[in-house]
Amino acid sequence: MHLVRHPADLTAASGGALVPTMGALHEGHLALMRRARALAQPVVISIFVNPAQFGPGEDYQRYPRTMEADLEAAEAAGVEVVFAPEVETMYPPEHRPLVGPLPDVATRPGLEDAHRPGHFAGVCQVVARLLDLVKPSVAIFGEKDYQQLLVVEAMVQAERDRWPGLRIERHPTVREADGLAASSRNARLEPSVRDRALGLFRALEAAQDAPETAEETMQRVLAEHDLGVDYAVVRDARTLEPIETPQQPARALVAARLGDVRLIDNVEVISDQ
Ligand code: PAJ
Repeated sequence: MHLVRHPADLTAASGGALVPTMGALHEGHLALMRRARALAQPVVISIFVNPAQFGPGEDYQRYPRTMEADLEAAEAAGVEVVFAPEVETMYPPEHRPLVGPLPDVATRPGLEDAHRPGHFAGVCQVVARLLDLVKPSVAIFGEKDYQQLLVVEAMVQAERDRWPGLRIERHPTVREADGLAASSRNARLEPSVRDRALGLFRALEAAQDAPETAEETMQRVLAEHDLGVDYAVVRDARTLEPIETPQQPARALVAARLGDVRLIDNVEVISDQ
């Protein structure tokens, strides 16, 4: 496995399968890497805590950084190249964010876009830069960050000429045994509040059982777990816009706060099939 710090050393990576991450690798990330192995060679991951996607009051400084353990885990998962640049190499002073207008799904739904202003501009900036530098044939993103996944798909679709032949592969959310979605931020949950965090999954399960009344039910379940709710909604699975009656493909999405840890999760409530 090669650890690459500078874009100039990435030449052997092109045409491969890219898994962008911010490190603190867990089972969710590792599942994406194993999937990558089946899609293209070499398997490249990036580890970069992207300052551009964190807001002023957010957890950029506190975000877990576990590089040594990450390198071991990546090696064991069959990763061939780890691209881990410094902020200065990722965003040199002469670098200009080249992304055009953000796609609608990054600005209209009123979900992560509303609660984390600037977040998707930062995500698009870093993902565009990674795609330019690594030049993968496929990049894998998790459904755990469902709005992000749709934003990346829309950006790549809008800029087809910039990344010809690039495919975005979706990976289902990986969960711990009790249902809690694997997340780097779980490491910041005290054992005593772990049960409350499970409220997100309980709310989403309830939404799947009764899509018509899902929004009320989710609010109740989240409140029962003493969680501060940012949103708990059922939306069109493709646009994340509100829907009248949940008949078209629909997704339930929640974001909630537990002290200073913010968690998000989502599930399909009405399938595409
Ligand atoms: P990060 O939170 O490290 O996640 C990296 C990738 O792993 C994302 O595609 C995310 O959706 C996926 N992922 C995280 N937890 C998952 C889980 N439990 N199941 C399945 N997939 C999971 O998302 C980011 O980093 C950043 O925004 C990034 C795309 C790297 C841009 O900086």
